[in-house]
Amino acid sequence: MKVFAGNSNRHLAEAICKYLNVPLGNATVKRFADQEIFVEISENVRGEDVFLVQSTSFPANDHLMELLIMIDAMRRSSAKRITAVLPYFGYARQDRKAGPRTPISAKLVANLITEAGADRVLTLDLHAGQIQGFFDIPTDNLFAAPILARDIKDHYDTNNVMVVSPDVGGVVRARALSKRLDCLLAIVDKRRDRPGESEVMNVIGDVSGKDCILIDDIIDSGGTLCNAAEALLKKGATSVTAYITHGVLSGGAVARVASSKLRELVITDSIQPTTGVQSAHNIRVISTAGLLGEAINRTAQEQSVSGLFD
Ligand code: R5P
Repeated sequence: MKVFAGNSNRHLAEAICKYLNVPLGNATVKRFADQEIFVEISENVRGEDVFLVQSTSFPANDHLMELLIMIDAMRRSSAKRITAVLPYFGYARQDRKAGPRTPISAKLVANLITEAGADRVLTLDLHAGQIQGFFDIPTDNLFAAPILARDIKDHYDTNNVMVVSPDVGGVVRARALSKRLDCLLAIVDKRRDRPGESEVMNVIGDVSGKDCILIDDIIDSGGTLCNAAEALLKKGATSVTAYITHGVLSGGAVARVASSKLRELVITDSIQPTTGVQSAHNIRVISTAGLLGEAINRTAQEQSVSGLFD
């Protein structure tokens, strides 16, 4: 087995290699003067089981293109099998034709990865599970829930915890976590009754006196979470913490979280944290290296990956 990485998340790739006790593969991924991507694999991969770690995080297009070109390089270097390991699969939010004349970008990106020559995909908390079906190659979608649940148990008395979905779309994810923690579930229901009227946040469930744990797959601008946190505190919650798999955190999101009523935002390292994230007083990052490393190990050994979640 050989593990390589693009430029999106080298810290995580190194941590995965440490878990697997293998060196990170030697490859050059840099830019021509005009910003085209130049790739050179600097060691033999002929006949190897290759795992390419790359999140399509900011700058998404550059990181996606790096991944595609690295897959192409591996294929032309006669790797036996190429697994694209995407701790964060971006372009997932346009996963259906939500309106007329809109693309299904998630399907397009899945096609690009497949056409480039990937044999398998390994990813984490896809925005929508059905995106797995957009790939016509085996695709394993891992869940961060066991890591998040362990951290919640380490920091909270779960007898007083209420898991909260910040919107109706996230109920399935929140329900799975509440089952794992054996605690109650609440839902924030965002509604705009008439166009032009401001949104009303209704909380379904009695959160008063509870330590609320908001759970979601993505925090981007932070608007969804910070608004949900305010609504929960207005309803009498004792504290609100957010556990989110993918810390996209674009624009002023870090500042918004820092000045919000959230006790803490806990994210994973599926996207490499910026220095702003690292120095924010109420953002903590937990690692997925063990989970991804073990999934890579099991894939290489032809063992069950779903067994990781039993
Ligand atoms: C939406 O369906 C996602 O699960 C997240 O709730 C959303 O992407 C968060 O975006 P923002 O942080 O910009 O509100």
